Amino acid sequence: MSAPLPETIETTLDILADGKYVADRSLATALFLALKLGRPLFLEGEAGVGKTEIAKVLSETLGRRLIRLQCYEGLDVSSAVYEWNYSRQMIDIRISEAAGDRDRDQIENDIFSEQFLIKRPLLQALEPDDSGLPPVLLIDELDRTDEPFEAFLLEVLSDFQVTIPEIGTVTAENPPLVIITSNRTREIHDAIKRRCFYYWVDYPDAQRELEILAVKVPEAPGELSDQIVAFVQRLRSKDLFKLPGVAETIDWTNALVQLDKIDLDPETVNDTLGTLLKYQDDIEKIKGSEAANLLNQVKADLAARQ
Ligand SMILES: Nc1ncnc2c1ncn2[C@@H]1O[C@H](COP(=O)(O)OP(=O)(O)OP(=O)(O)O)[C@@H](O)[C@H]1O
Ligand SMILES: [Mg+2]
Repeated sequence: MSAPLPETIETTLDILADGKYVADRSLATALFLALKLGRPLFLEGEAGVGKTEIAKVLSETLGRRLIRLQCYEGLDVSSAVYEWNYSRQMIDIRISEAAGDRDRDQIENDIFSEQFLIKRPLLQALEPDDSGLPPVLLIDELDRTDEPFEAFLLEVLSDFQVTIPEIGTVTAENPPLVIITSNRTREIHDAIKRRCFYYWVDYPDAQRELEILAVKVPEAPGELSDQIVAFVQRLRSKDLFKLPGVAETIDWTNALVQLDKIDLDPETVNDTLGTLLKYQDDIEKIKGSEAANLLNQVKADLAARQ
């Protein structure tokens, strides 16, 4: 079932909530404006703060096809836009030859037609889905590609068209809804950002993170969730190589629920740190006395609040 694009910030928040995404009003505003103005939404932020999820939720709740372009170093046009199906072309040439067909122009015309074209995500995204609606295009982790690809992407995002020399120019009648994400391992070129609506996705504050746990791990006891969130929030103020994101908070909560915990104790924290921290140095730093300190502070904070 497809749904119309949101007409207000409130309905944008509703759409995200339908997809179990807890968003700040500022994020909903950015998303609303990007959709309304037909601009890509550029989401930058640390790992695990919910950037990719926004594209997934949009596709789900608006009933649009999700087309994902996962970026990596060395990503090129043949993986991102299109390539010719060489083996099928070869077979076709052989068949034509075997049939005594010697008209080279005709053969060339045949083998460079759409049926021999393998469409990759950026080309797919220019076409509507079966219901006639433009898809959601997720360009994930753009910071992992190199600059030549960025320059190429800029062209696609400017006009939503791709030129295939042998066929011609393919233009999207209705542009896709584009979400671009970056973990900021390097700066993305200004020219790309200028075409987008930019939003920095930050770690959520405690209240927002509690709301996220309530929708993502509803079976977790309330007091346990309070402790988890307070612990993670304090942990994020530590000098660590990689701070835990929302994904880690959710993982940790799931792990503690599996262990039937209703209350955090130092031993459990130490034993389950691997769901929160993914670097041995970070774990070494927190394990033991630091974890016990944090837990004491958390319990004192929560007791003072009651
Ligand atoms: N605001 C939120 N509401 C609900 N769930 C969230 C929210 N933020 C993050 N999550 C959950 O956290 C997990 C990680 O989110 P996601 O994969 O989108 O992170 P990311 O920012 O793309 O991370 P990475 O940079 O590592 O790819 C998902 O399971 C998502 O459901
Ligand atoms: Mg992601």
